[in-house]
Amino acid sequence: MDFSLSEEHLMIRDAARDFARTELLPGVIERDNLQKFPTEQVKKMGELGFLGMMVDPKYGGGGMDTISYVLVMEELSKVDASCSVIVSVNNSLVCYGLEAYGSEDQKQKYLTKLATGEKLGAFCLSEPEAGSDATSQKTTAIDKGDHYILNGTKNWITNGGTADYYLVIAQTDKEKKHKGINAFIVEKGWDGFEIGPKEDKLGIRGSDTHSLIFNDVKVPKENRIGEDGFGFKFAMKTLAGGRIGIAAQALGIAAGAYDLAREYSKVRKAFGTEISNHQAIAFKLADMHTTIEAARHLVMKAAWDKDQGNNYDMSGAMAKLYASQVAMDVSVEAVQVHGGNGFVKEYHVERLMRDAKITQIYEGTSEIQKIVISRGLLRD
Ligand code: CAA
Repeated sequence: MDFSLSEEHLMIRDAARDFARTELLPGVIERDNLQKFPTEQVKKMGELGFLGMMVDPKYGGGGMDTISYVLVMEELSKVDASCSVIVSVNNSLVCYGLEAYGSEDQKQKYLTKLATGEKLGAFCLSEPEAGSDATSQKTTAIDKGDHYILNGTKNWITNGGTADYYLVIAQTDKEKKHKGINAFIVEKGWDGFEIGPKEDKLGIRGSDTHSLIFNDVKVPKENRIGEDGFGFKFAMKTLAGGRIGIAAQALGIAAGAYDLAREYSKVRKAFGTEISNHQAIAFKLADMHTTIEAARHLVMKAAWDKDQGNNYDMSGAMAKLYASQVAMDVSVEAVQVHGGNGFVKEYHVERLMRDAKITQIYEGTSEIQKIVISRGLLRD
């Protein structure tokens, strides 16, 4: 067993670390305050190849492995989780979904532009009444021969207003339940497709979250992904990989909060010495670091499973479940280590604490991860 990273992995990690410090850090507080989408930063991440990292180079991607991807996710998330969720959705849900299950024509037409960052993607599964219960889709796509007519509303869609291409999950045959669900590629600007209001969020405020309204949108049949009825499995398989990306995001939030707490504890003085000299603080750092390392092992194991071609449903869910709890716990402790300054925006830890919460909610709540894990355990 070898726990060391290759030279190539270290180079990719360092490039992401450098980018996060020089390009993401300077405006991160302002973007959070103003809920400002990081347009320039996303463009640069596209140029660096961060938006289609694992896609085959023949479709414009970086041809990298999942280990590289989680390293980049961790580094970006240490500084700006709003940016990293954009990276995560485009890579794990949109690009992966199209590369693994799209037709050659779909890959040529859409994936090539998404993988280079020329266009941005969104993954549209959640609905007002179908968040965790993903089979209960109310959005319908009625088969009209050479096209479908799409009607319904999607909620909490990351990149909702800024995406160009949307992977939309809809019910095509209610009687067939999850076997009557399909996934479609929908382009921004098509008649009847309306972007709803932007959400005013607790965290990841620089990312762009909207509801979407589909009103008799005509979707060509060639834009259905996979065989008829494949949509639910498409969503589940895609989300299984997405959870590894979000686990890495949670890991990055925790590691970013820990780094800030450690640095602060070495300069802030109380009772005549740096607070790191007090066991009350030093023990907190020890606990934080230990849980972060444990989370990192789970994240790496899940990424490795995916790279090896192993099933990663359970390892991805375990990584997300645990890393998101660590993100929450560590960021709360990091605020505590900072005392009054932790409650102030310029010290960054309060934002990381707010950002941490979503990692326990999106791409399946912690409770959903436990369903996935326990079903995996009890399957045989
Ligand atoms: N791979 C392949 N197939 C899978 C699968 C997987 N990982 N998981 C389930 N399936 C298949 C099952 O085998 C079954 O197929 P068969 O009938 O042919 O055997 C079918 O899908 C139905 O499975 P279940 O009976 O297990 O389905 P369920 O209704 O009990 O739900 C669930 C399972 C795990 C709870 C699922 O609904 C789920 O994951 N819910 C959470 C959805 C979610 O993550 N939403 C997040 C939205 S996206 C987002 O947040 C993106 C963003 O903006 C950042």
